[in-house]
Amino acid sequence: MRKDDAPKPLVFATRPIAEQALVELAGFARVDLWDDEMPPPRAIIFDRIAHADAILSLLTDRIDAQVIAAAPRLRVISNLAVGVDNIDLDAATAAGVAVAHTPGVLTETTADLAFALLMAAARRIVEADAYTRQGRWRAWGPRVMLGRDVFGATLGIIGWGAIGRAMARRAAGFAMRVLYMVRAERSGHKWRESAAEEIAGAQPATLEELLHQSDFVSLHVPLTAETRGMLGAREFRAMKPGAVLINTARGEVIDQRALYEALAAGHLGGAALDVTSPEPIAPDDPLLTLTNVLVTPHMGSASHATRLRMAQIAVANIRDALAGRLPAYCANPVVRMRGAAN
Ligand code: GLV
Repeated sequence: MRKDDAPKPLVFATRPIAEQALVELAGFARVDLWDDEMPPPRAIIFDRIAHADAILSLLTDRIDAQVIAAAPRLRVISNLAVGVDNIDLDAATAAGVAVAHTPGVLTETTADLAFALLMAAARRIVEADAYTRQGRWRAWGPRVMLGRDVFGATLGIIGWGAIGRAMARRAAGFAMRVLYMVRAERSGHKWRESAAEEIAGAQPATLEELLHQSDFVSLHVPLTAETRGMLGAREFRAMKPGAVLINTARGEVIDQRALYEALAAGHLGGAALDVTSPEPIAPDDPLLTLTNVLVTPHMGSASHATRLRMAQIAVANIRDALAGRLPAYCANPVVRMRGAAN
């Protein structure tokens, strides 16, 4: 068989992505598309990945060691996300499978949402909209819908990666004081990343200092063994009375039950969560009984332009791997990829 006649590689796409990117993918691969709003059940993943050269996965697909072991042809797991906590990186590396992701392009979009959550929680936007729709707005009132000032308040940013720094730039524009912690370290010593971009006025702090001094605390760490459960009852107690928590990172970074208790006890002033554990949050979760909690459906990167760009990068990552090159955005660059020259 001539090279031109060889069948195109097979890519299992676990959900429809931007149409334009699917067309690009179909230009160099056969696409086995799970065309549903819901993620494919695990049995389907096992069935489809057995023959696939690549998988285009979402953060809702658990690609663990068992799935990877069931995929003898797989060369790349291309995740439509910056986070790769749904993938067993060690198992992929050991099996010679590259893990690709979509960092960078979603930084500003996610920081926009984090800052929108901060503003909405501070000024009670969601509550106020419901108040109006429910016909409770009867007159301008000097004590109606009082919230918190954003200007002059202190924002504590946990995680000084690209999204944390983009959040800091927004905060600087709103005349906030910014404290940041580079890493999710419990040890408590100050740590400054010398190579990191400096943001005017932002000061490094330990977790303890940051929790004690911040009026708003925003999480921007990846989910790792180190960050799982890093904010629990002890940390919520250490936060300033009335402080507001914003989470656009991963639900598992906080102890959600402890957050509920800190809010219900009146110690914390509010929480704005784009991520929960589990996802979706159960409709009867106690957090949803609190009016000072607002929850959005994990939509940090959800702008038309950014989701298209993410899809195109995910497709380009697959193209790279199937051509025997390490994907441009590779989360396990030490991998010796199956079928590659590296
Ligand atoms: C979203 O949470 C992502 O990791 O891209």
